[in-house]
Order: sequence, then C-alpha cells, then structure tokens
Amino acid sequence: MITKCLFPAAGYGTRFLPATKAMPKEMLPILTKPLIQYGVEEAAEAGCSIMATITGRGKRAITDHFDISYELEHQIKDTSKEDMLKEIRKLIATCTFTYTRQNEMKGLGDAIYKGKSLVGESDPFAVILADDLCVNTKGDGVLTQMVKLYKKYKCSIVAIMEVPKKDVHKYGVISGREIEKNIFMVDDMVEKPDNDKAPSNLAIIGRYILTPDIFDIIKDTKPGKNGEIQITDALLTLAKKGMVIGYKYEGKRFDCGSVDGYVEATNYFYNLSK
Ligand code: G1P
Repeated sequence: MITKCLFPAAGYGTRFLPATKAMPKEMLPILTKPLIQYGVEEAAEAGCSIMATITGRGKRAITDHFDISYELEHQIKDTSKEDMLKEIRKLIATCTFTYTRQNEMKGLGDAIYKGKSLVGESDPFAVILADDLCVNTKGDGVLTQMVKLYKKYKCSIVAIMEVPKKDVHKYGVISGREIEKNIFMVDDMVEKPDNDKAPSNLAIIGRYILTPDIFDIIKDTKPGKNGEIQITDALLTLAKKGMVIGYKYEGKRFDCGSVDGYVEATNYFYNLSK
C-alpha cells in the first residue's frame, strides 16, 4: 500500500565540515555503508520500491551510488570483493530511484513539498531522514512498524521517542493522548520549542508516513522556526483534526547528524559485526 519513500537530502551537513565540503552528508559511511543506503534498505524492507530523493547542488554522489558502476564491476568481477556490492546491487535491481532538487534551503516542509512531483498526490508515502539511523535487531525495522500501524489507522504518523527535557529544543515535539500502548493521538506539535515551553518530552525522529493532503497544507504553511517551512507546522493542521498519530517505535535511533551520534552508531555497528 505504501510503495514510495521520500529522502530529503538537500542539506549542507555543516556539522561535518570539512568532510561534507564536496561530499553529501548522506554518503558518510557507518562502517562501509553510506547512511542513505541504511535508509533505503529500511524503506525496501517496509515494502517501498520507489525511492525518491530530494537532492541539491553537490549531491551527485547519491545518484551515482544507486546506479551500476560498470568499470568497478569489471574490476572486481570474480574476486571476493564482489560480495561487498551484493546489497546495493539488490537495491538497484529491485527499486526505482528518482530525484529532484530543492534549489533553495527553505526547510524540511519545503523539501517534502518538492517531492510531490516524485510521489504524486494519490497515495500515502513514507519519509526517511537518513541522518537519523534506526535499527531494530529484535524484529521489524521502524518504517515496517509504521506501515503496519498505517494499515490500522490510515492517517499520518510520526515516529517519536522520549528525550531528556534539556534536549527538546533540538526536535519537533508532540503532545497527545495515549490511545494504545506506545500510540498517541497527537493534539499539539511544536518545532524546536524552548526547553521550558515544550508540550512534552516526546520528540519526533526522522520517520514519517504522510497522507497526500499534506501537500496542499504545506503550500499554505508560513515559514516558522528559523524562517523555514516546517513539516511539523503543516502536520499540526492535520493533528488538530485528529489525523496524526505519534508512535513510540521499537528499536534504537542514532543522531548521525551530530558527530557524537555518528561515532556512537559506528561503534554500535562495529560491535554488531564482530
Ligand atoms: C528535523 C525536523 C524535526 C525532527 C528532526 C528529527 O529537524 O524538523 O521536527 O525532530 O528532524 O531528526 P532537523 O534535525 O533536520 O533540524
């Protein structure tokens, strides 16, 4: 039912300079795999086959990564290295990759709006922010859990986690009524509130399922926090009609948009691989 996943990936990744001067932050590797590939694998596991990326200038490496490299294939043919391309080859063979550019950095809401031409307006779709790396070693990936939830509730869903009060200003924050264990009917959401003004400590992480009516709402959403068009503000319009669910997912999430989270993820995956 949900076959398309949007990957907003136009940001500059300034926290990783100089590494991200000429390389997209989404291509930073955790061990040997770029961040965006973890996201695409999570989306594929959830049943998506159309991977739609919002890119920007200087992001061509992403497009090349999800394409065949004939020279490289030729070089490593019949060597043990071929194995290292197994996962990416499978993705290339089974998914369609589409791209459009966000020409100006006008916020996550605007980036998602740019994705309208890629995902269309007739079906719900998923959104993955690749620098939020999610892993669940005990069962379904986070997006798969959300797709299952969508089948029951048929409305927009945001993944949430509890964060310490002192960190709420880094996130979109929701408040709501717990209608089932770990499932909240959202009644308020605020983008990066001051720590003492946040409606709760339930923070949105980079996994969304959005119904296509969001596009018309984004169009009418005024710039909010930091002068950017925020998806959190657009979703609030839906939440007021009782049409957004917050889901406390099972699994771990690493904030790979920060150096600390990136190192933590690297150590975690290294230990997992031993
Ligand atoms: C974005 C969203 C924010 C969300 C966060 C999760 O912010 O705007 O609501 O909590 O992703 O990572 P960013 O981290 O891109 O500033």
